[in-house]
Amino acid sequence: MEKILIIDFGGQYNQLIARRVRECNVYCEVKPWTTPMAELKAFDPIGIIFTGGPQSVYREGSPTVDPEIFTWGVPVLGICYGCQLMARLLGGQVTPAQDDSAREYGKTVTYYDTTCKLFQGLPAEGVSWMSHGDYMARVPEGFALTAHSDSCPNVAIADEARGFYGVQFHPEVNHTQHGIDMIRSFLYKVCHAKGEWTMGDYKDRAIADLRRKIGTGKVLLALSGGVDSSVAAALLAEAVGSQLTCVFVDHGLMRLNEGNEVEKAFAPWDINFVRVDAEARFLLKLAGVDEPEHKRKIIGEEFIRVFEEESKKIGAVDFLAQGTIYPDVIESGTGEAAVIKSHHNVGGLPDYVDFKEIVEPLRMLFKDEVRQLGRELGLPEYLVSRQPFPGPGLAIRIIGDITKEKADTLRQADFIFRDEMAKAGEDKQLNQYFAVLTNTRSVGVMGDGRTYDYTLALRAVTTSDFMTADWARIPYELLDKVSGRIVNEVKGINRIVYDITSKPPATIEWE
Ligand code: XMP
Repeated sequence: MEKILIIDFGGQYNQLIARRVRECNVYCEVKPWTTPMAELKAFDPIGIIFTGGPQSVYREGSPTVDPEIFTWGVPVLGICYGCQLMARLLGGQVTPAQDDSAREYGKTVTYYDTTCKLFQGLPAEGVSWMSHGDYMARVPEGFALTAHSDSCPNVAIADEARGFYGVQFHPEVNHTQHGIDMIRSFLYKVCHAKGEWTMGDYKDRAIADLRRKIGTGKVLLALSGGVDSSVAAALLAEAVGSQLTCVFVDHGLMRLNEGNEVEKAFAPWDINFVRVDAEARFLLKLAGVDEPEHKRKIIGEEFIRVFEEESKKIGAVDFLAQGTIYPDVIESGTGEAAVIKSHHNVGGLPDYVDFKEIVEPLRMLFKDEVRQLGRELGLPEYLVSRQPFPGPGLAIRIIGDITKEKADTLRQADFIFRDEMAKAGEDKQLNQYFAVLTNTRSVGVMGDGRTYDYTLALRAVTTSDFMTADWARIPYELLDKVSGRIVNEVKGINRIVYDITSKPPATIEWE
């Protein structure tokens, strides 16, 4: 399979570069600059991209690469730091920008030489996203200048004969107009990619690889019902069928019908599906506990205990499967840490379960690719496009102590909210939305009588990374409809509020 090698020099957009390349249907992997040359060469790429990075190339000890890489006959695209590094390694000179005007940050009007393969067919002028304090004072021999800005003469360089290209700006970010087209041109016009990376092909290859690796061994997977573990389960089910056991621990704090939905989704496969109804023991452990961290800890520990008991019944397994995805792998730096990292929903599992090896069939996929793969495997859309749901479930959306009655009340209210959001088509635009049962009761009037019931809070956010989030401006009419339905249909709630705080200072969940 054709592959692009992305050498990571520590820039903040490195994952984004990889996503863009894959969006262009070309497989790529991000490898740290410290990777041994032999390993990089064995990867056998059709093209190489050098990422940006926070350092200066002329500083002692700054990230670099063996110049031998330029003798492989493989095209290279250097981005920002990567561009400067290539220039320096090939005999050019990079210096700190002499005056502030040559330092460029943010959106910059850029003029392109549209005879250069990178910019062919694109407008000769456009906005690009710059972020560099260094400047290429002398470009290496054989290179031509292919783009400039009002303050910088060498925004892009190219040695087309050798297939070496460098850009000072970031084509991978949306702020750069036609950035994705430039990346596509590098892949298709320079590296002559054919565009072999599609989820259908990936699925077939992954299944073949899993069969080879697992052989006749037994595989165990903790299925949470979230997107990653569900898709991992479906892939393994397709690959090894009845050799797979999925353990789904229902802690009684799932959303309405969640357990049934997950079970139903896996019915088509001949696998061992163990659904553990652990509601009673979780609620017993949680009784009277109202401190959020304490709740989380109890749930995490109890989860492991249940899983451990179930896996003992199954006996020694050869492989423990996990739904680790590529961003976790890249963030761990070397890629090594992810092997021992436990799934965030079931922290610490590998220490407790008797197994020989870990399989992580999604470890090379981004979240949107995982969803695509899920569709290829025939998982229902409601599972594949599911919003994130925290491991501790409704426990951290019931403020104060948890009872079965409160969980049932919240489940119903949350279902109505999600139902109306989906009917209104808002579900596709929002990243997360749910109901919270507050611990506040207030006086209301229903029919002719007084009520003294709970206040329910609705939360809906937009976010790209869940690190920061904005509260969603959903239409008043929709809020009105949801509010009317909940107070009428759900016993125990007589007041609805809408959470209008962003993160920060609030968090997405209430606990
Ligand atoms: P916060 O509330 O910290 O949440 O803004 C950020 C995102 O993380 C999810 N979340 C969790 N996910 N286990 C998970 O798998 C957890 O314990 C957990 N706590 C929060 C939350 O739903 C949101 O998407």
